[in-house]
Amino acid sequence: GGWTVLAGRQVASTQRVLEENAKALPRNTVVVADTQTQGKGRAGNAWVSPEGCLMCSVYCHVAMEGRKLPLLQYATTLAVVESLEALRGPAPAEGRANFASIKWPNDIYVRGTKVGGVLCQTVYRGSGAFQLIAGIGVNVDNDEPTFCVNQVLRELGEREIAREELLALMLPRLLRFYRIIAEESFAPLLRDYYGFWLHSGQKLKVKGDASVRGDTAGSEEHKDVVVTGLSDDGFLLAEDENRAVM
Ligand code: BTN
Repeated sequence: GGWTVLAGRQVASTQRVLEENAKALPRNTVVVADTQTQGKGRAGNAWVSPEGCLMCSVYCHVAMEGRKLPLLQYATTLAVVESLEALRGPAPAEGRANFASIKWPNDIYVRGTKVGGVLCQTVYRGSGAFQLIAGIGVNVDNDEPTFCVNQVLRELGEREIAREELLALMLPRLLRFYRIIAEESFAPLLRDYYGFWLHSGQKLKVKGDASVRGDTAGSEEHKDVVVTGLSDDGFLLAEDENRAVM
């Protein structure tokens, strides 16, 4: 089955439209708006929502164990960056580097600058199923006051993209990725995911406490570690100088 698309000129927040109305709407509904007056970012931040930005929220049901829920935001960011790359058309014979990347856990970067983000909210709906409302904002086409995807495409001498095209490529990917996570795990998506993520080999300082998995529980000293990847259930994996996995 397809999607129900609700498109509006201006709303307070596409996320809020679904929070308030999901129960009355069919699953696989997407709400998209040209501008928002009260766009929500993560951690209570506001999301500046000018024209030219793709702003949408998708409502789906996912039947999965609760421990897998954090993976949905990774799947969502993957759907966005893959779609951005797919819109660039066929790569030249000599190949070409990705211009879109993922700053973990849910920022979309293009050429080192944030152009978008993802906000996933889940509510348990019974019988092992969760309601997911995944909000996606991608600055496709407004140069001011920030930075946008089309600006980079112009600099690269490539075709500019429209918000609708990006949305059209994202939606089937979202459902496919959510289903893979529900039925299997994130593992089948990891290889593609690493192709976009910015953190392989990144150096971090971690406090030796229970917030990292490993054998340093209780100690207060800081350790230098190198990020090696994500585990199947979405934990950040890192190694210290003894190659001990954390
Ligand atoms: C972030 O980087 O903090 C996440 C930003 C998510 C913004 C999108 S725009 C469409 C949807 N509606 C909202 O109010 N927020 C999300």
